[in-house]
Amino acid sequence: MTSYASSLFFWRFVFATAVLICLFKDVEVQSQNAAAELALMQQFEQFMVEHEKVYDSLAEKMRRFEIFKDNLKKIEELNADPEQTAIFGVNVMADLTREEFRATYLSYRMPEDARENFLTRLKLDHEEEEEDEEEWEGREGGFGLLERNKKTTTTTTTTTTYPPPTKGPPPQACTIDWRKISPKYPSVDNQGKCGSCWAFSSVGAFEVLLSKSGKTEKLSKQELVDCTKESDMCEGGEFEAAFKVMQDPGLTSEKEYPYKAANGTCKSKFTVIEKLKSYKDVSGSDSKLIAALPTSPLVIAMNANDDFQWYIGGVLNPKSCPADGLNHGVVIIGLCGDSWLIRNSWGTKWGTEKGHIYIKRGKCGIGLWAYSFKA
Ligand SMILES: *[C@@H]1O[C@H](CO)[C@@H](O)[C@H](O)[C@H]1NC(C)=O
Repeated sequence: MTSYASSLFFWRFVFATAVLICLFKDVEVQSQNAAAELALMQQFEQFMVEHEKVYDSLAEKMRRFEIFKDNLKKIEELNADPEQTAIFGVNVMADLTREEFRATYLSYRMPEDARENFLTRLKLDHEEEEEDEEEWEGREGGFGLLERNKKTTTTTTTTTTYPPPTKGPPPQACTIDWRKISPKYPSVDNQGKCGSCWAFSSVGAFEVLLSKSGKTEKLSKQELVDCTKESDMCEGGEFEAAFKVMQDPGLTSEKEYPYKAANGTCKSKFTVIEKLKSYKDVSGSDSKLIAALPTSPLVIAMNANDDFQWYIGGVLNPKSCPADGLNHGVVIIGLCGDSWLIRNSWGTKWGTEKGHIYIKRGKCGIGLWAYSFKA
C-alpha cells in the first residue's frame, strides 16, 4: 500500500515537474521569439519610414510585415551563396511578394512576329555552341575583345541586419562609362507601379545620348505610354513601336506631358522638342554591343530575374537567368571588364550608384535584343 501511494506521489511529482520544466522552457523560448520579433518589427518600421510606406490598415501592415520577414530570409540565403558576387539587402521592394515584383516591374514584350524567329535563333545558338541551357554566352564569341577575368573572390555576409551590408567585391574599372562620357548624365527615373520599362529604357537612352551635347531637359515617358498604338501601355510594349513615335511625331518634355504611371489617352496637342534621328539593331554578340556603346547608350531587353528584387551592389552573377526569359527593358551605359553597367528605371533608391546595376556579361539574354541611337 505504502509503496503504491508513494509511487503514485512520485509519478505525480515527476509529471508536475515535467510540466513545469516544459512551461518554463516554453516561456523562455517565447520570450526569445518575442525579442526577435520585436527587433524585426523595428527593422520593418525603419524600412517603412525610409521608403515612405503607408498601409491602409493594421491588417495590411501585418501582412506586409510577414512578407518582409520572408524576404529577409531570402536575402540572407542569397548573401550566403559563395558563387554570388553581388550583395543583396533590404530596399524599396522589401515588402513585395515575388509575384507582385514580377507583375509590377517586368513588362518588356517581344513583338509576336519576332518571337518565333528569336526562339529559333536561340535554339540554333545553343546547338552550335553546345552551351549550358540556362546561359547564353554570346553568338560570335564576342568575348574575345576583352579578356574575361577570373571569378572575383566573395565576401560572404550572413547577417540581415538593417541597414544592409555595404561592402562587397567591387566591379572592375569601366572602360566605357556614359556617366563620364556625358558630364550632364541625367538621373535615373522611376517607372512606378506601371509596366512601362519599354518606354523608360527608350526615352532614358535618348536622354543620356542628348545629355552629351549638354541637353538636360527631361522628355516625356507618358507620351510614349499613351501614344504608342502597338503597346499595352502599363502592361508592356515593344521597342520599335516606341522608337517610331520618338521619330514621328517626336517627344515633348516631361514638364508638358508628365508621367502618371497609369494608362492614358494620347493628347491631341503637345510641343515636340526632340526627334530621334535613327536607330540601329545591334543585337547578336558582345562585340557588336561593345562597338556600338561608345557612340550610343544601348536600349536592350533582358531577363531581370528574381535576384533583381534585392540587388544593392557588386556584380550580379545570377545562377539561373535563361536567355529566353526576356522580360525587362533597360539601358547599357558602361562596359566594366567582365560586367555591363546598366541603367534601370526603378528610381535612385534601387540598386547601386543611384539606380544602376552591374551584371556579369554573357548572362540573362543581354545582347539578344539591342539598339543604338543617333540623336
Ligand atoms: C492598361 O491598358 C492595357 C492595354 O490596353 C490593359 O490590358 C490594362 O488592363 C490597362 N490597365 C488599366 C489599369 O486600366
